[in-house]
Amino acid sequence: MRYALVVPAAGSGRRFGASVLRKQYEPLAGATVIEHALAPFLADARCHRVVVAIAVDDGAWPQVAARCAARAACPIVAVTGGAERAESVQRSLAALQAGLAGDEWVLVHDAARPCVSRAEIDALVAAALPHPVGGLLAVPVADTLKRAATGGGSQVERTEPREGLWRALTPQMFRLGPLARSLAAAHGAQRKPTDEAQAMEWQGELPLLVAGDARNIKVTTPADLVLAEALLQARDGVGRST
Ligand code: CTP
Ligand code: MG
Repeated sequence: MRYALVVPAAGSGRRFGASVLRKQYEPLAGATVIEHALAPFLADARCHRVVVAIAVDDGAWPQVAARCAARAACPIVAVTGGAERAESVQRSLAALQAGLAGDEWVLVHDAARPCVSRAEIDALVAAALPHPVGGLLAVPVADTLKRAATGGGSQVERTEPREGLWRALTPQMFRLGPLARSLAAAHGAQRKPTDEAQAMEWQGELPLLVAGDARNIKVTTPADLVLAEALLQARDGVGRST
């Protein structure tokens, strides 16, 4: 099989806090967040095309792109992202549709997830490939879930059963045509899916949950960046002085 990779990287990192750099360009273990997020895909011979969605005023991408191109065997192109993550993905898919058939596989992976591993990509591809819809990496919820009282307070209203609940990660893997149609339908209905799977679900499709690795965290706050550095060091030994 082969797949195209879409990387939404057009967010402004509001929860990360004010910074000159967007969080996807923060230094991390000898590179940047987005370079770590791309690395295992660029080293995968099945990945034949990469589209990165960047913000219209992004000045940091060209340098990163040059470093990535030096290690990639496939073309990497940038498109301008949109106001929402789903719109950034939609625009990236439009770029792919110019040259690829609707049944081609697409993996979508957040630029803000630098700890994704080759083992997770392999598990997702192996499980989703024979599936009629496709699938996503996810991890079962481990903590007890509390519902706060309505009105935004911190008073417990009740405990929610966590049985059968998973946290959705990326990458997520779907066929180009159905995914583009699902996102277009959501956009047309002014609905904002927070991941690709949700857009597919709204079309009545039931994606496959594939067990991912809890270490595949999303960098949302500065504390997540510290955690990602520790995770990468433990995994790869990157950043060590000896
Ligand atoms: N993203 C995007 N286009 C947007 C919004 C988000 O491509 N309009 C990307 C981000 O760059 C990130 C991924 O989607 O790689 C996941 O989004 P998130 O972690 O929410 O990043 P931000 O939207 O940048 O952060 P925040 O929500 O805190 O502003
Ligand atoms: Mg966001």
